[in-house]
Amino acid sequence: MTYENRWETVDVQIENGIAWVIFNRPEKKNAMSPTLNREMIDVLETLELDQDARVLVLTGSGDSWTAGMDLKEYFREVDSQPEIVQERIRRDSCRWQWQLLRMYSKPTIAMVNGWCFGGGFSPLVACDLAIAADEATFGLSEINWGIPPGNLVSKAMADTVGHRTSLYYIMTGKTFSGKEAENMGLVNKSVPLAQLKAEVTELANILLEKNPVVLRTAKNGFKRCRELTWDQNEDYLYAKLDQCNHRDTEGGRQEGLKQFLDEKSIKPGLQSYKRTG
Ligand code: COA
Repeated sequence: MTYENRWETVDVQIENGIAWVIFNRPEKKNAMSPTLNREMIDVLETLELDQDARVLVLTGSGDSWTAGMDLKEYFREVDSQPEIVQERIRRDSCRWQWQLLRMYSKPTIAMVNGWCFGGGFSPLVACDLAIAADEATFGLSEINWGIPPGNLVSKAMADTVGHRTSLYYIMTGKTFSGKEAENMGLVNKSVPLAQLKAEVTELANILLEKNPVVLRTAKNGFKRCRELTWDQNEDYLYAKLDQCNHRDTEGGRQEGLKQFLDEKSIKPGLQSYKRTG
């Protein structure tokens, strides 16, 4: 399936199981406009059903990942709209930036290639994993132009980064680099820009080897853990484990146990079982 020119503000290319989803407004630093937000809902819903898209990478064209919400089209122009329209526009942004993306049925990686500001932190943290370029510049710039961070930006920081560091950047609006983002746990790793795509491809290839049903259950199960008590988690995660066994048509569990216990062909501590499905 080719998606060439299907969306105005987002480009999608699928290669070897990886769906490269590229914010495509480089002249506006990939700022997230109402059009981009609506299109991203369609992109995520479309790719969910595309069997060729098995790992999703979210990145940006030009020198930006995204400069955050579009200050003109998302804020100034919407301020004069009827209240119900404002509500709809906000809902669209939440719909893809965290509701769809956070529990997405396929693994997701944010590949932060450049500027990453404000509203960009919601999809950044909603992605399962994140790799940045050392040269990328991050910032919670809201304070610099007169609003507190909205949408899920502060929640995203609270979920990934420590209390003092979060407040420091929320309150000062200072920028930080890819390496600093790595050190504070906002991204998994930061590498020179020239190596970024190779690094992300290598990570995506590891995920492509895993059983997709088990992977989905594992990642989404972890994310739910934050919201539940220990007792609820015990029930929830065992129920998910049983659901996973039931839904996994590849029979991953039996195969993995067979390859370790009977065939002695793998060491699960060191490698994945070989998928036969
Ligand atoms: N919303 C709307 N437009 C934006 C934008 C945003 N968040 N970020 C950049 N743009 C636009 C600029 O207005 C400019 O448009 P123009 O060519 O019509 O004048 C264009 O993108 C290029 O940006 P420019 O500022 O000239 O690029 P730069 O390389 O000098 O600076 C940034 C890049 C990202 C540092 C700067 O654009 C910036 O500070 N953007 C705002 C970031 C922000 O506060 N985001 C939080 C939103 S919640």
